[in-house]
Amino acid sequence: MKPVKVGICGLGTVGSGTFNVLTRNAAEISRRIGCEIMIAQVGARRDNPDCDTTSTQVTRDIFEVASNPDIDIVVELIGGYEVALKLVLLAIENGKHVVTANKALIAVHGNQIFAAARKHNVTVAFESAVAGGIPIIKALKEGLAANKINNLAGIINGTGNFILSEMQAKGRDFSDVLKEAQALGYAEADPTFDVEGIDAAHKLTILASIAYGIPLQFDKAYTEGISKITAEDIRFADELGYRIKHLGIARRTAQGIELRVHPTMIPKQTLIANVNGVMNAVVVDADAVGQTLYYGAGAGGEATGSAVIADIIDIARNIIGGNTAASPPLGFQAETLSNLPILAMEQTETAYYLHLKAAEKPGVLAAVTKILGQGGINIEAIVQKESDEDYVPVILLTQQVFEFQMNKAILEIEALDCILGDVTRIRVEHL
Ligand code: HSE
Repeated sequence: MKPVKVGICGLGTVGSGTFNVLTRNAAEISRRIGCEIMIAQVGARRDNPDCDTTSTQVTRDIFEVASNPDIDIVVELIGGYEVALKLVLLAIENGKHVVTANKALIAVHGNQIFAAARKHNVTVAFESAVAGGIPIIKALKEGLAANKINNLAGIINGTGNFILSEMQAKGRDFSDVLKEAQALGYAEADPTFDVEGIDAAHKLTILASIAYGIPLQFDKAYTEGISKITAEDIRFADELGYRIKHLGIARRTAQGIELRVHPTMIPKQTLIANVNGVMNAVVVDADAVGQTLYYGAGAGGEATGSAVIADIIDIARNIIGGNTAASPPLGFQAETLSNLPILAMEQTETAYYLHLKAAEKPGVLAAVTKILGQGGINIEAIVQKESDEDYVPVILLTQQVFEFQMNKAILEIEALDCILGDVTRIRVEHL
């Protein structure tokens, strides 16, 4: 049987992980497929000392790989938007299947890329773009294909989870932990993508499209980062029985789809609340199977390479089996994609944790609770913390309300003379 030939573009963390696992496990992989996977060419700006490419053709021009007539599958691992888009579109026009780990590219340009792939009858696969080595895309597209997905919630950024876990466990400083995550190769080239939730929103956008059969709509995702989470809030949450996690949440409601990334308080006895370090996890709630949980390494070269290679194997099986029909990249037939609206954040409904600094004098709590009551917001718990300061921390937990109700109440509370500074709000989910 002729080998299936791949060209790898990019030899950074994921590129080298992919190269090394493909090389090391070549015999086992070919036993699974029935033919050899050959790395016919690597396109990289520079060599990577972690990869032995001495017996591989290497070019400094990645576009050469996309035009190489010998190559069946182009693997895009360069990251970023413009150059990656050009590369992927060129590969597709040249009739090549594409595997990419680039969540930003798929979340932002996926609709265009998929249309091009349909036209040229090739497959675009991106398992590694979401949650590193966890096969969550395959789970949604195949394992759960019988179901209507109600909601999903995930820790889908390893760097952010690493930071929150270290702050929680060791009381470490935010910036100090971020530096360590960068040194370990977990963080994006621009780490604000990790801490401000952009990377998680890219991944959530992809998951929601596969879960609900809707076009990719990254611009409609609500994104809030973790850079304002304090050790004090982590401690208060802990005392109330919660952990703070940076979650991506997609939920189907009667009005449309909620699509949001933000710090979230979840009960600490839930499995996902105990997912720590760089690990990722996604909980999916579906109508037939109920709740399922997917857990594993969300970043790192070989873990992500594992998912890249899984896509290569799927495509290679189709090539050698003569299955020429490209499988729909979102798991739904393109003409059936639905126009369910993505809800504005003001229209989403959650419970809240509020942290205020209240003057230590009579009537303050009455003024605050009056605003909440008039806004139709039901209080579940209220705790005043001890403090030697003139303003004491007051923590409130509310029941579920619409975000627009809470926005209005917070503005009114912040305007009270007896309240110092901004109110901290963390959304609470019981999943
Ligand atoms: N920066 C990403 C993370 C890498 O920390 O999860 C994997 O996508």
